[in-house]
Amino acid sequence: MSETIESLLGEGQSFPPPAHFKKTARVVDAEIYDEANADFEGFWARQAADLVDWVEEWHTVLEWDLPFAKWFVGGKLNASYNCLDRHVEAGHGDQVAYYWEGEPGDARAITYAQLLDDVSQLANALKALGVGKGDRVNIYLGMVPELPMALLACARIGAPHSVVFGGFSADSLRDRINDAEAKVLITGDGAWRRGTIVPLKDIADAAVAECPSIEKVLVLRRTEQDVAWSDGRDVWWHDLVPQQSTNCAPEPMDSEDLLYLLYTSGTTAKPKGIMHTTGGYLTQVCWTHKHVFDLQPDTDVYWCAADVGWVTGHSYIVYGALANRATCVIYEGTPDFPDKDRMWQIVEKYKVTILYTAPTAIRTFMKWGAEWPEKRDLTSLRLLGSVGEPINPEAWVWYWKTIGAERCPVVDTWWQTETGAMMISPLPGATTLKPGSATFPLPGIGADIVDDNGKSVAIPGGGYLVLTRPWPAMLRGIWGDPERYRATYWGRFEGKYFAGDGAKRDADGYFWLLGRVDDVMLISGHNISTAEVEHALVGHPAVAEAAVVGKTDATSGQAIAAFVILRNGFEASDALVEELREHVAETIGPIAKPKSILFTEELPKTRSGKIMRRLLKDVSEDHALGDTTTLADPSVVEGIKARYLAQAPDEA
Ligand code: WT7
Repeated sequence: MSETIESLLGEGQSFPPPAHFKKTARVVDAEIYDEANADFEGFWARQAADLVDWVEEWHTVLEWDLPFAKWFVGGKLNASYNCLDRHVEAGHGDQVAYYWEGEPGDARAITYAQLLDDVSQLANALKALGVGKGDRVNIYLGMVPELPMALLACARIGAPHSVVFGGFSADSLRDRINDAEAKVLITGDGAWRRGTIVPLKDIADAAVAECPSIEKVLVLRRTEQDVAWSDGRDVWWHDLVPQQSTNCAPEPMDSEDLLYLLYTSGTTAKPKGIMHTTGGYLTQVCWTHKHVFDLQPDTDVYWCAADVGWVTGHSYIVYGALANRATCVIYEGTPDFPDKDRMWQIVEKYKVTILYTAPTAIRTFMKWGAEWPEKRDLTSLRLLGSVGEPINPEAWVWYWKTIGAERCPVVDTWWQTETGAMMISPLPGATTLKPGSATFPLPGIGADIVDDNGKSVAIPGGGYLVLTRPWPAMLRGIWGDPERYRATYWGRFEGKYFAGDGAKRDADGYFWLLGRVDDVMLISGHNISTAEVEHALVGHPAVAEAAVVGKTDATSGQAIAAFVILRNGFEASDALVEELREHVAETIGPIAKPKSILFTEELPKTRSGKIMRRLLKDVSEDHALGDTTTLADPSVVEGIKARYLAQAPDEA
């Protein structure tokens, strides 16, 4: 570690808002916290009135029947109207909404007026396919402008969308479509990824073959290879959409109408359809986007480098960003195509001022070396953001120095698919930053750290992160399973939302997130459950039993280490390791591929037969083994450890 970094990481290092930044910042003092926390309902009601256009006023700010919340009850609005029409009506039709950069080097600039026309045509096309208010539409696309358009077209006609990230497998897509009982699927022929084609249509065909609810598949042409076609079911985008009218009146939606479902991993193998509704969600994504990023819509060029397929994209590429009239950059491909300076080339080309990315990406850039960003002019940047997992102080400082040239505040934003919007984060003009800390709950947000009994832990101290009051963008439930919603989030600590993360507060009250405390792993900033991967592994004919853990990994945060018992008649081999890794990729998606697989005769279990994953985690991280007294046979884990270390799973 260089001397500078070491001194920056030294005890008590902190970064007050730079003076030049403070000069124009939206929030520069801490009064707003007191004001919001004194009356959080009043605070959010003021934001809803200021930031969102309503067709009808609400009569009640919050109905709270723990754990079920309703915000801005009685209000009516349309999310797509708030993202598009009102800006065009106010004379901003010529402002660019999306600068899109295709992976092969093609590019488009789409203005707000153009986007409104495109979205309206697509909305009319969906109607022509039989989609009505309340019908679910699944979306499975790469990062093309038609992806955000698809979300907005659904929102325009009141059809909840369910986006499945383009890296998921046919089985994952099938399960999500079936759970949502979607009527229409929007997909493409393929997506570009590192110069090769992800065959979206083939994958979608395999999924839809087992999806009885799907009536029509709308197919966008992007990669232009030949694709199989199902007459009567499949419809080319270019045959249907451009012929539609560019007028489509936005459907007035109830504040609590479902805006979308987004699936996330839980501690069991079955993904949860997280439900987000309209009025409260829009209010909080708008407020946080505007204040955490200090957005100046007339001058900023904002780039959230996530995929729209994750919640980060929903909230901060589509709804929050457009509702605030941001000019956004979106990029189709990977950061190393054609070369490792692609991100920085895009920053230079569009003069990006705000960049929001994930620690796993930042660590990858660190590994590639400073020479890549140094080749490019990054002086347009004024603010940097991070999301997805705890950012280690080394990566934070590298981001601050090498990308931000010690000029740009770094906002580390903690939130979840379930919270819908940012919850713990600095306000860059007001908060003194500490590398690695997400700092404080945002105004109006109630967060605490509790012990096993739900008792607040004194400062300084650590325990479980909980949220202590409802917030406007909170999930409204798990699709089709209210009991699971209650049990998962509200069952552990009386009256409090349990986020599943460990956290501590330092002597100054700063929050430091410590990662998951349950059987959910964080792989490159995305939740994958141990159960999901184990389920995929035992789905292979060679596997009798499997246990997986997330082991700390220098690049991806956590990497999956699998321990597998083979069925009789199957031999351990390198080829079988590869086959199982591929099998998991095909079953769930490449993101869930185990980094290492160890074949074993036995797994460490309690007398009641529960696999003790924490011991396997100790093994995988080469820690001293924790308490083994509840093991049925303590020698088992010693044997596994010896073999695991002998195999020294590749650290590539
Ligand atoms: C989990 C939620 C929010 C969009 C991307 C992930 C972890 C997220 C941070 C952060 C520490 C973080 C948590 C959380 N996480 N942001 N800034 N610092 N941890 O959404 O897939 O729903 O995952 O990501 O563990 O619970 P998600």
